[in-house]
Amino acid sequence: MIIAIDGPAASGKGTLGKRLAHHYGYRHLDTGVIYRAVAYGLMQAGQDLRDEAAAVAVALELDPEKFGNPALKSHEIGHAASVVSAIPRVREVLLNFQRQFAADPPGAVLDGRDIGTVICPNADVKIFVVADPKVRARRRTLEAQSRGEAADEAAILADILARDERDQNRPIAPLKPAPDAHLLDNSQLDIEGGVRAAIDIIEAVRAGR
Ligand code: DC
Repeated sequence: MIIAIDGPAASGKGTLGKRLAHHYGYRHLDTGVIYRAVAYGLMQAGQDLRDEAAAVAVALELDPEKFGNPALKSHEIGHAASVVSAIPRVREVLLNFQRQFAADPPGAVLDGRDIGTVICPNADVKIFVVADPKVRARRRTLEAQSRGEAADEAAILADILARDERDQNRPIAPLKPAPDAHLLDNSQLDIEGGVRAAIDIIEAVRAGR
């Protein structure tokens, strides 16, 4: 059983993915973390984010044990990840790891930008999460503040819009709903409401409704 969750930055797909994995007893992979780890590795090494050879080298050496590093969560790394993720060879290198993760039993929830379209086109259920950019900026601001970081909501909103633009318009694996994805608008829902809406979708698909 594979559940694919895609959507733009700060749409709530990560929290949703984690909660759904817990609910169904499946493993969870936040695929954004992989691109964040590549960006972080490049920045640590003082390399240019657009340096293809350097980015591929970092991607080949990734250690999934380090995906839990809190430094990967920052807004700045998210922005850098969006730049790195537009490099086709970086995406190619990271494809097998994601597919392998999805294939292992008993089931998996993967969230990202291209799970339903590229990584797992045969996923059993595909959910595309959307939310108003202003709501997303508000959530990211509160998250940053809860980590003790200073956060400028207007700057975060501008960055979210720039990331949407880049993620949607890159030539390779752009952010877009798969034709068979179910849309979930998270703008007015709290976490519990989003989880319930997703479970309703999953159960309806499983029941063949
Ligand atoms: O979901 P996130 O904010 O952690 O993702 C960070 C960046 O990584 C995002 O702006 C684009 C990229 N990304 C991607 O290209 N494909 C994915 N499956 C997940 C993330």
